[in-house]
Amino acid sequence: MDWKRKHLLGLEELEVEEIEHILDTTDSFREISTRAIKKVPTLRGKTIVNLFFEPSTRTRTSFELAAKRLSADTVSISAQTSSVVKGETLKDTARNIEAMQIDAIIMRHSMSGAPHFLSRCVKASVINAGDGCHEHPTQGLLDIFTMREKKGSIKGLKVAIVGDIAHSRVARSNIWGLKKLGAEVIVVAPPTLIPMGIEEMGVKVCFSLDEVIGKVDVLNILRIQLERQKCGLFPSIREYSRLYGVTVDRLKKAKKDILVMHPGPVNLGVEMAAEVANDPRTVILEQVTNGVAIRMAVLYLLLQ
Ligand code: CP
Repeated sequence: MDWKRKHLLGLEELEVEEIEHILDTTDSFREISTRAIKKVPTLRGKTIVNLFFEPSTRTRTSFELAAKRLSADTVSISAQTSSVVKGETLKDTARNIEAMQIDAIIMRHSMSGAPHFLSRCVKASVINAGDGCHEHPTQGLLDIFTMREKKGSIKGLKVAIVGDIAHSRVARSNIWGLKKLGAEVIVVAPPTLIPMGIEEMGVKVCFSLDEVIGKVDVLNILRIQLERQKCGLFPSIREYSRLYGVTVDRLKKAKKDILVMHPGPVNLGVEMAAEVANDPRTVILEQVTNGVAIRMAVLYLLLQ
């Protein structure tokens, strides 16, 4: 297809063909990271800025590696060591960075919609690396890529997204992408962690993991985001873990070929037992590997 989009802000706005094109393009970039010399000249001369206002290990590192493997120059800026701490606004920060002739800004921010705002302030491409509780499009894409790789097709797949749905940008990007590609999505959590009106996104809601675990092809397990919860939304971590933690015993009730996923970072012993993290059906590190290829594909499509 003829790619026209300049920014990647969320999966809500992407057409099915665009999502499939990113996934197909990722297939061709994955092999580069397995070579002895992991570099191609595709984006030579382009400059990409990582602008992160929240902590990150996977997203920030894999965007940087993706850019370097495509021969782009990269700069990483964290809000804590920038002039943001002196009171400089997001708009001024971005426009000053852009004045240094850069081509793309990859941004993570605690405010939903911050990358959308930025895309209206600068001429560079803007990529959303996670905005508040709203979207994390490249995580959604790498999750869907991993499901497609392992299960062959997304259409008809039954996916349970388990945990802190209310605060999860990963859940929202997964839901948009999976529903567009024809999956059945069930969100599983205590009522206090299910946002009002989530059914309007086309998902089913279930409050019991035990009811669902034997019926689904994929479990995508989310981290409990205590840093975003303004008050206690469940009695205790122990209580949450007892009802929603994926344990070895619970996994025995699942289909034999279930795929177990987690975007990371994992709270071991809370949402997932250590033994489950090490189960051969759990693909957390393969998700991370695929994240580099997804981000190479996204950078290539936006900046070519
Ligand atoms: N999955 C994810 O976004 O991880 P980081 O917060 O480490 O980037």
